[in-house]
Amino acid sequence: MVRDTSQEEPAIRFQDVNKSFGDHVVLDQLNFTVNKGDRVTLIGPSGSGKTTILRLVMTLEELTGGYIFIDGQPLTHDLRDGRRVELKEKHRNEVRKRIGMVFQQFNLFPNMTVIENIIEAPVHVLKVPKSQAITRARELLDKVGLADKEHAHPLELSGGQQQRVAIARALAMDPEILLLDEVTSALDPEIVGEVLEVLREVARTTDITMLIVTHEMQFARDVSNRVLMFDSGSIVEEASPEVMFTQPTEQRTRDFLAAVLGD
Ligand SMILES: Nc1ncnc2c1ncn2[C@@H]1O[C@H](COP(=O)(O)OP(=O)(O)OP(=O)(O)O)[C@@H](O)[C@H]1O
Ligand SMILES: [Mg+2]
Repeated sequence: MVRDTSQEEPAIRFQDVNKSFGDHVVLDQLNFTVNKGDRVTLIGPSGSGKTTILRLVMTLEELTGGYIFIDGQPLTHDLRDGRRVELKEKHRNEVRKRIGMVFQQFNLFPNMTVIENIIEAPVHVLKVPKSQAITRARELLDKVGLADKEHAHPLELSGGQQQRVAIARALAMDPEILLLDEVTSALDPEIVGEVLEVLREVARTTDITMLIVTHEMQFARDVSNRVLMFDSGSIVEEASPEVMFTQPTEQRTRDFLAAVLGD
């Protein structure tokens, strides 16, 4: 089905978002939207707030100010009668069920097998019957090329294999939004490709909205339709990958890309 996205709420909307750690302002009045089905890559120097943005969407960090909307629904705070109110834990947990995240450091449960890692959240959070969760987990393991590893423990796997399990685990929740934070940065160069190939396949075969932080510029070019350049917690420039990577407007973007692309 081809969706008419013109009438829909964006998948993610940041409205006047502030985030500070103590006196340190990381995000200052940040506004941006990610439409349904978009694949948006965030680029920018270390410390510019990219991970913080993803962690706020995942509710792993608390907003200091402003609002985040998921599918038009407020995530943690809402404006009611002119007042900014914090929403109940139960509400944010409901909204968060639609979001999956894959981290740089895999974050698998080391004492559980691969298949137990994958079915954990579907069974305990979504209340999917265990047999159904196992069937789905096997399909996903097949998709990420690890059908023979369901009974292995994470530490018996290579980094690339662990990361593919982490991707399968995120997909097992059937997320509408997938957040990817430098998912290949902890991997040896020769196995980066196998993980990116799995993600390219996810991008090709699903309509999941993706918000991606990566230093893999070719991957960003292949999968994303928009690139946002961040610096010091604000958007410096926004463009298609073709434009951003070949003829960026801003000097800060040019300097950053020259540094990461090494030319
Ligand atoms: N839990 C925390 N406590 C204090 N400061 C934090 C915390 N998390 C992040 N910061 C600070 O917030 C700023 C933004 O960090 P963030 O991790 O979002 O950057 P980033 O763009 O992801 O950088 P990198 O490219 O190195 O991953 C940094 O200055 C960082 O030191
Ligand atoms: Mg980061």
